[in-house]
Amino acid sequence: MPAVTFPADVVQAPLLQRISELIELPEAKRIFDNRFYGEWLRTDFSPDDFAIFAVNYYHRVYATTRRISIAMETIDDWQSRIQLLHNISDELGHGVEENVHALVVLRWMEGLYERLGGQSSFRELVQTTKLLPETERFIRATEDLCRVSPRSASGALLAQEWHGYNQIAILLDGFMRYRSLYETIEFHDSSEYFYVHLGRAEKEHRDQAITIAGRHCQTEADFEEVRAAFFAYLGLLREFWDAIADAVWQARQSAALQKTG
Ligand SMILES: [Fe+2]
Repeated sequence: MPAVTFPADVVQAPLLQRISELIELPEAKRIFDNRFYGEWLRTDFSPDDFAIFAVNYYHRVYATTRRISIAMETIDDWQSRIQLLHNISDELGHGVEENVHALVVLRWMEGLYERLGGQSSFRELVQTTKLLPETERFIRATEDLCRVSPRSASGALLAQEWHGYNQIAILLDGFMRYRSLYETIEFHDSSEYFYVHLGRAEKEHRDQAITIAGRHCQTEADFEEVRAAFFAYLGLLREFWDAIADAVWQARQSAALQKTG
C-alpha cells in the first residue's frame, strides 16, 4: 500500500540550505550572459528581428501552464501541490481571461511589433511561423524533466522560477529602448506583462520552488537529482536564447545583403 500523508503533515527538509545555494553558483548565473540578452539590451530590433524573438518566446510562455501541470501530477505532497496550484492560477489570470499571462504577453508583443513598423498580423505570425528547433526541444525536454520524479520536477521548476524572475527584469530593461514609441501611460499599460511578474507573487514562486525541492530531498542522491534537473533546464534555456540570437543575427545579415545588393 502506498504511504499516506495528511495535508497538515510537516515534511522535513534537511537539504534546504544547499538547494537555496544552487542559484548562487557562478555556473548557474552564467545563463544571464547568453547572446540574446546582450543583443536585446544593447541593439535596436527591427520588426523582423523582434518577431523572431517574440514568436519563439510566446510559445515558451504558452507552454508554462502545461509544464507546471505536469509537475503537479509528479509532485504528490499536499503542501507542494497547494503552492503549484497558486502558481498555475497566477498563470491563468486567476480565472479572468484577459489576465491570462499568455494573453498579457501577446498584447505587449502585438503593440511593440506594430510600433516598430511590422506589417503582418502578429497573431498570424505566431500561428504560422516555424519555431526554432531549440524552442521545440526546450518545450519537450523540460516537460520530460517534470515527468521523471518529484526531485527532477522540482529542480526544473526551481530553474524556471529563478531564471524567470530575472528574465522579466532583463526584458523590461531592453524594452526601455523603445520608450519613445509610446505615450507615458501607453508605455506603462504595455508593460503590464512585466509588472505582473515583478511583484510579491513571483518572488513567492521562486522561494516556494526551493521549499518544494527541499521536501523531496532527503538524501545526497536526491539532492543530486534536483541539481541535475536544475542545470539541465538551464542548459536547454541557454540553447533557446542563443538560437534566437543566431537567428536574429542571420536575419540582419540577409537584410544588409539585400540593401547592398
Ligand atoms: Fe507568467
